[in-house]
Amino acid sequence: MTIATAPGKIILFGEHAVVYGRPAIAAPLSQVRARAVVSDGSRDGSVRLIVPDLGQAFALHEAEEENALAAAVRQLQRAADIDQLPALTITVSSQIPIASGLGSGAAITAAIIRALAQHLGLVDFVGNTAVSDLTYEVEKIYHGTPSGIDNTVVAYEQPVYFQRGQPRNRIEPFAVARPLRLIVADTGVSSSTRQVVGDVRHQWQANRQVFEDLFDQCGSITERARQALQAGDMVRLGQLMTKNHALLRTMTVSSTELERLVETAVAAGAWGAKLSGAGRGGNMIAIAPEWHEETVRQALLAAGARHVFTTTVSGEPVIGIR
Ligand code: MEV
Repeated sequence: MTIATAPGKIILFGEHAVVYGRPAIAAPLSQVRARAVVSDGSRDGSVRLIVPDLGQAFALHEAEEENALAAAVRQLQRAADIDQLPALTITVSSQIPIASGLGSGAAITAAIIRALAQHLGLVDFVGNTAVSDLTYEVEKIYHGTPSGIDNTVVAYEQPVYFQRGQPRNRIEPFAVARPLRLIVADTGVSSSTRQVVGDVRHQWQANRQVFEDLFDQCGSITERARQALQAGDMVRLGQLMTKNHALLRTMTVSSTELERLVETAVAAGAWGAKLSGAGRGGNMIAIAPEWHEETVRQALLAAGARHVFTTTVSGEPVIGIR
């Protein structure tokens, strides 16, 4: 039996603009994870995928092309050039809320690919880079034009500065001077990344100059945020978050609920707040002085947040990201 897990993710700065080649910063959310367990054999001799939480169980060969779990298995099978997989049972579970901007799709895919590659002894596909690359291929099926930041963060599990590029993405882990405590609040509204990203694309096509300028401003905020993170300047970081949020609002990816939660957090003493991920629902993040954290948390709940939790982003850069 082989088990692999992958974390959720939080985009700190630069969502959407990152799809258009501007830099963004994201961090893993290690306390909520997706998990895949692969064991030999199955009830009917096929590769069976089981999702106990959803009451789903099906054979790989019966799964539709759009099935995300099957796509993860097929992607690895194709990459490793395996004609016929042996009988296997793959059980998938996840603590990451879906459609909430926390990277649940990428994490589930990465966990399946890593567990299966390890189980089958496919040494070329167990490393972070291979897991990230294959997860990206699956993301493309569901998401249309993913930047690649989600698969990178969930596969490497460390904070990254990421810029999409040709022939290679720029992926730089960086030191966070002071552990960054993030307050994360869920609007309770689900949102489709594919739809929101597609909608931003339509607006960009209709108003190229305006959107290029918005993306440039987001990119410049990300650069300044990286410096603030490295310097441990939380006040500055908070201001930059709120500025980034204003730009995302102009891109029309905020929502009534997100606006309410961002305003509430700042009014309750946060240094800054913003939506995180694709927007139009999902989660927002805030940073606050430690002595205000509980007040901010209570205020967010009173303003209608479905859940509020705190997570810490920390870390020294790890060598080995290409
Ligand atoms: C989604 O987590 C982040 C977006 O920037 C899309 C992407 O980067 O692929 C909205």
